[in-house]
Amino acid sequence: MVTVNHNYLKLPGSYLFSTIGKKVKAYKEANPQANVISLGIGDVTQPLAPAIIEALHKSVDEMGDAATFHGYAPDLGYEFLRSAIAKNDYKDRGCDIEADEIFVSDGAKSDSGNIQEIFGLDNKIAVCDPVYPVYVDTNVMAGRTGEYNKERGNFDNVIYMPCTASNGFLPEFPEEVPDLIYLCFPNNPTGGAITKPQLQEWVDYANKNGSVIIYDAAYEAYISEEDVPHSIYECEGARSCAIELRSFSKNAGFTGVRLGFTVVPKDLVRDGVDLHSLWARRHGTKFNGAPYIVQRAGEAVYSPEGKAQLKEQVGYYMSNAKAIYEGLASAGYSVSGGVNAPYIWLKTPDKMTSWEFFDYLLEKANIVGTPGSGFGAHGEGFFRLTAFGTQENTLEAIERIKNL
Ligand code: MLT
Repeated sequence: MVTVNHNYLKLPGSYLFSTIGKKVKAYKEANPQANVISLGIGDVTQPLAPAIIEALHKSVDEMGDAATFHGYAPDLGYEFLRSAIAKNDYKDRGCDIEADEIFVSDGAKSDSGNIQEIFGLDNKIAVCDPVYPVYVDTNVMAGRTGEYNKERGNFDNVIYMPCTASNGFLPEFPEEVPDLIYLCFPNNPTGGAITKPQLQEWVDYANKNGSVIIYDAAYEAYISEEDVPHSIYECEGARSCAIELRSFSKNAGFTGVRLGFTVVPKDLVRDGVDLHSLWARRHGTKFNGAPYIVQRAGEAVYSPEGKAQLKEQVGYYMSNAKAIYEGLASAGYSVSGGVNAPYIWLKTPDKMTSWEFFDYLLEKANIVGTPGSGFGAHGEGFFRLTAFGTQENTLEAIERIKNL
């Protein structure tokens, strides 16, 4: 008799952004005249930068010529891209990471969901609350958690680290020592950032306790403050306790192109096994390499033209972030984030729940955001807006919110 993976049945509802998508679709069908502005999912709106388009065209042409055609990509990534990443993202920042410690993939969402596979099911995970739902949901699917507790609004056998206004939306060391610690900075969803000394404390904690930090740095391009680290490997000792996840989605607009990478330093050993080899085994078996044309596009991100164009693009989104932050603050909202990240985190007004505010904004202002409770129990009463809209829509959305 066929049985299913019962761990999936522990998951309440559908994936957060699928639920929102369905709600918005239903609203639009019922109100076809409504001009709905989405500041919900963190999806980019600006076209790919010219340097990237040029690299794509060139590599597409190569694919049309037998002499330069490329079939399967090397499963861990092309050398040209891994070297560009090692140099620009790590060595130039003083981080000791080699090209062969970088695993190129189709994006940080898959990597952040897949990375748990190389760890035993008896490991206990710790996550921030609120948190990007993929980390928890994939551990639930794997069977690393207990049941969903409806009253608490979270899972048994998971260590939640509340990130609230009272601790500046930064996690505190939990009472129980976790095996795997998921950290995402600059943070999704709160838009908060961690300073280098603060991150160093987590690295020291992980090394002392034998934990592994899974560090999601997908939003590092949005960092504007000096003391905020772009990589966990800026901290001393991180090579022996941290895996880093990176994405081309937010820094280069690849949400629809798909490219990311994971760094597993060779010094990272647990249970007598080096995790670099385990991830290489997993990646090589289950992934057949990101497309050649996409990796060439990724390489262009690091060209002088690419860098200049993307700096401008990030600046465009960050001026949206500033406008949202200031607009909401002037309208009396309590807001945070938006300085080192493209997300603005606000307290819902009049004690509305996150979903009540979602409905209110959608119906009264035709604006879509993301309910904080969708990211965890401690997100209740909060709401996330993204700076990834067009400038025109962003300014219009703020006016609508102010006029409510
Ligand atoms: C988000 O809105 O939280 C992100 O866009 C989701 C993602 O990057 O997968």
